[in-house]
Amino acid sequence: MILSIESSCDDSAISITEIETNKLLFHKKISQELEHSVYGGVVPELAARLHAEALPKILQECEPYFKDLKAVAVTSTPGLAVTLVEGVTMAKAIAVALNIPIIGVNHLVGHIYSLFIEKDTIFPLTVLLVSGGHTQVMEVKSLTDIKTVAKSMDDSFGESFDKVAKMIGLGYPGGPLIQELAKDGDRKKHNFTIPLSQSPLIAFSYSGLKNAVRLAVQKADGDETQYKDIAASFEHIATAHLTQKLKKYFKKVRPKTFAIVGGASANLYLRSQIQELLKPHGASLLLSELKYCSDNAAMIGRVAVEMYKQGMFSSIEELDISPRSQL
Ligand code: KG4
Ligand code: ZN
Repeated sequence: MILSIESSCDDSAISITEIETNKLLFHKKISQELEHSVYGGVVPELAARLHAEALPKILQECEPYFKDLKAVAVTSTPGLAVTLVEGVTMAKAIAVALNIPIIGVNHLVGHIYSLFIEKDTIFPLTVLLVSGGHTQVMEVKSLTDIKTVAKSMDDSFGESFDKVAKMIGLGYPGGPLIQELAKDGDRKKHNFTIPLSQSPLIAFSYSGLKNAVRLAVQKADGDETQYKDIAASFEHIATAHLTQKLKKYFKKVRPKTFAIVGGASANLYLRSQIQELLKPHGASLLLSELKYCSDNAAMIGRVAVEMYKQGMFSSIEELDISPRSQL
């Protein structure tokens, strides 16, 4: 079995995965959403302190598995430096204490493998990763053959939901809150400009849309009905930007199997719009189970099993955090 730790942002999570079968034997996650909600976003130092409390608590529950552990895995990149350190330090302590190898996992690869928890892998895949930190399209052929073909030039899709929610005073994380508010709103009410719609670039940008929404929020001045329309129009344009660029990309590379992963892949409107986009191509859509869309350690464990089988270990002395590495 492999014990895997995730602490790259505001979720403390540990999993135990059986190597032979991919079976998830244990998974527990303690989220810090409530604690960060008052600030409208993640406060890194607070997150680190909360990980230092939560991770040992979860680890205690894993004690019965200690004697069967063959490796310990941990998210080492990318993420918040002060929170990654919490997980990596704990993983190193476990590796030394139990005399087992350590595996450093890339969080983004983890999101891709959230599709395959307790399942076999399916490759090749075109993957759209939409999370709080990333918005990118990747061509994935295997664990070690992942190419990013388009990414955001500024804010991410999820982050733009967080920021709009903060403007309206809804709390954090903004994705589910905006989705809920948008349900009763008019998607066509605000004609926000679709980012980069005149540009031939296949890339994403959310900072301009965010600023346009800010003006509309200021105008609405506390009016609930207007907020609903703003949320609905924003969700529509944010999604239209993704589908417009994907449509362009599909003209170059026809999708066969397409997947959406990351916390924001839970967005129902996005899911339905991508489904529509794939229809004429006859391509299938893969999604993670809702509970594994946002950060978790089950996905880290799933990658770790593959890395273990391929002997992709790190040395305890050399494994270091890398807050900004990309794929
Ligand atoms: O993958 P994740 O848990 O953390 C990162 O790796 O960043 O993604 C969190 C992000 C947050 O920005 C959150 O607002 C967004 O995913 N999110 C959503 C929805 N649920 C979560 N965005 C849009 N619609 C949702 N339903
Ligand atoms: Zn994530």
